This record gives sequence, structure tokens and C-alpha cells, in this order.
Amino acid sequence: MEQFATTVADLAQKLAAILAEQLGFKSNFFQENCLSSTCYLRMNRYPPCPTHPEVFGLMPHTDSDFLTILYQDEVGGLQLVKDGKWFAVKPNPEALIVNIGDLFQAWSNDVYKSVQHRVVTNPRAERFSTAYFFCPSYDTEIQSCYEPSVYKKFSFGVYRQQVQDDVKKLGRKVGLPRFLV
Ligand code: OGA
Ligand code: NI
Repeated sequence: MEQFATTVADLAQKLAAILAEQLGFKSNFFQENCLSSTCYLRMNRYPPCPTHPEVFGLMPHTDSDFLTILYQDEVGGLQLVKDGKWFAVKPNPEALIVNIGDLFQAWSNDVYKSVQHRVVTNPRAERFSTAYFFCPSYDTEIQSCYEPSVYKKFSFGVYRQQVQDDVKKLGRKVGLPRFLV
């Protein structure tokens, strides 16, 4: 796990720098704000599910970070939305999956889109995945790199809190639409 975290931490930094450069920014924003102490790994276990396909392993959602780097085993079940349709992400033991998260969408002023994804269950096989969430500290202010800005400036801490409050009160995450100008 330590080796995986170190490797993907380095990868996430490189990818963030490349994505920022594509927008015309040579920025050390990510190096300064996304530290090993503010990023985290989540290890997911999905037991076989007899009520497949009515029950999701993970409900449709977007990730509340800059980038997620995911490794899934050979069972599969991850799906993402493209052009309004759900597509399965075929397991590939040689590949990592990289998702754009909400923070990159806000930072890039909607140039990069946070991808909607979900996990469908498997009636027979147990599934494992490991996700690395590339996050800044809670006090980091997320501000669009372009004007006019689509979203209000917000701190990651405020964003996380809003997501938690919405999930508690409404049963679902609202996410970025809450922060539209
Ligand atoms: C997540 C996630 C996908 C998977 O943890 O946010 O989307 O394949 N995981 O487990
Ligand atoms: Ni996710």
C-alpha cells in the first residue's frame, strides 16, 4: 500500500501539472497544496450481491477531489457516463483509471469535467478496488484559473462540509451546482 501510494502520488502530481499546462498554466499550486498528508487511499471491497442488479456497489457520483487514480481488479463493475450513457470500464491489470474530480472542474472553469461514475454489483464474485484521492488541505481556496468564473471561490473544507450536509439532509450529493456564481 505504501509503495502504491508513493507511486500514484507522484503520478497524480505529474498529471495535474500536465493538465494545468494544457490550460496555459505552469503552476506549482498542486505541489504546494496537495500533500501526502492531505491525499488519501480508499480500499473498497464489494461482496457478492444476491440482489444484483437492483443494488449498486456505489451509487452514481462524482469525486470531490482534483483527480482520482483507481486500480480495479479483474471482476469489473465500474461504469462511467459518456454522452449521457453508461459505459463499463473494462478491467485491465496493466492500467490505472484516472478520473477528473469536482475540484479540477472548478479550477479549470468547466474545461475539464468531473466524471459521473458508479459501481454495479456482481452476483457471484467479490470485488476489490483501490482509489487514490488527490486532494488539497481543507483551507485551500479553489478558484477558477479563468475569468469570468463559473463558480464562486470556495475552500475545500467548505465544499466537503456542504457535500456531507447535502447527503445527510437530501440523501444525495449536490456538488458543484451549489457554488455557481
Ligand atoms: C470511489 C469510486 C470506484 C470503484 O471510491 O469513489 O468511485 O471501482 N470507486 O471502486
Ligand atoms: Ni468515485
